[in-house]
Amino acid sequence: MTLIAPSILSADLTHLQEEMDSVASADWVQVDVMDGKFVSNTSFRPSVMKDIKTNLVIDVHLMVINPFAYIDECIDAHAKNITFHAEAVPQTVDRKTLIALIRSKGAQAGIAVNPETHIQAIDDVIEDIDLVLIMSVHPGAGGQAFIPEVLEKVKAVKQRIPTRLVQIDGGVNAETAKRCREAGVDCLVAGSYIFSSQERTQAIQSLRS
Ligand code: DX5
Repeated sequence: MTLIAPSILSADLTHLQEEMDSVASADWVQVDVMDGKFVSNTSFRPSVMKDIKTNLVIDVHLMVINPFAYIDECIDAHAKNITFHAEAVPQTVDRKTLIALIRSKGAQAGIAVNPETHIQAIDDVIEDIDLVLIMSVHPGAGGQAFIPEVLEKVKAVKQRIPTRLVQIDGGVNAETAKRCREAGVDCLVAGSYIFSSQERTQAIQSLRS
């Protein structure tokens, strides 16, 4: 079954516990951390989730130039998956060190690729990583339009590592979700589609089938 991960980037952060309660039928929750350097916007720290009660898997998406600096805070915030950007960590030795560090703390390691980044750019770690996040928008903001060309990357990654998770993020709604599932996506991240809905359980269900 396709995993659904509401992104809190589009949630009302002043009522985050209620917002999390409203998406309890999902599987994961994506915490979009932006540092204002890797992307021009800043969002929140991983600690935003520290005191939130949820059964969802906490999945932190680090849109930051130095992901090493955030790992402990992600773990303190009960993250079970921590994804860094390939574009922020270009050196293989650093990528492997970061993956080992994340794993040593008991979390899964993910690597994210922007729409313009070729899959060959992660050849060095594709056999090691737990999850590949294919960005279907340019990172930095919610509510953008889905970039369908990235679905070819989904297929290529699923071919290379059929047993690992492939996640997609950006512009996911009921219509684009169908195309993502057909391409083999395992986990759909959706922010504005879910949090703009008054019927969030139905919105989540509409992404599953
Ligand atoms: C982009 C963010 C968004 C967010 C989801 O930097 O990563 O993709 O998670 O945004 P929507 O679902 O509103 O496109």
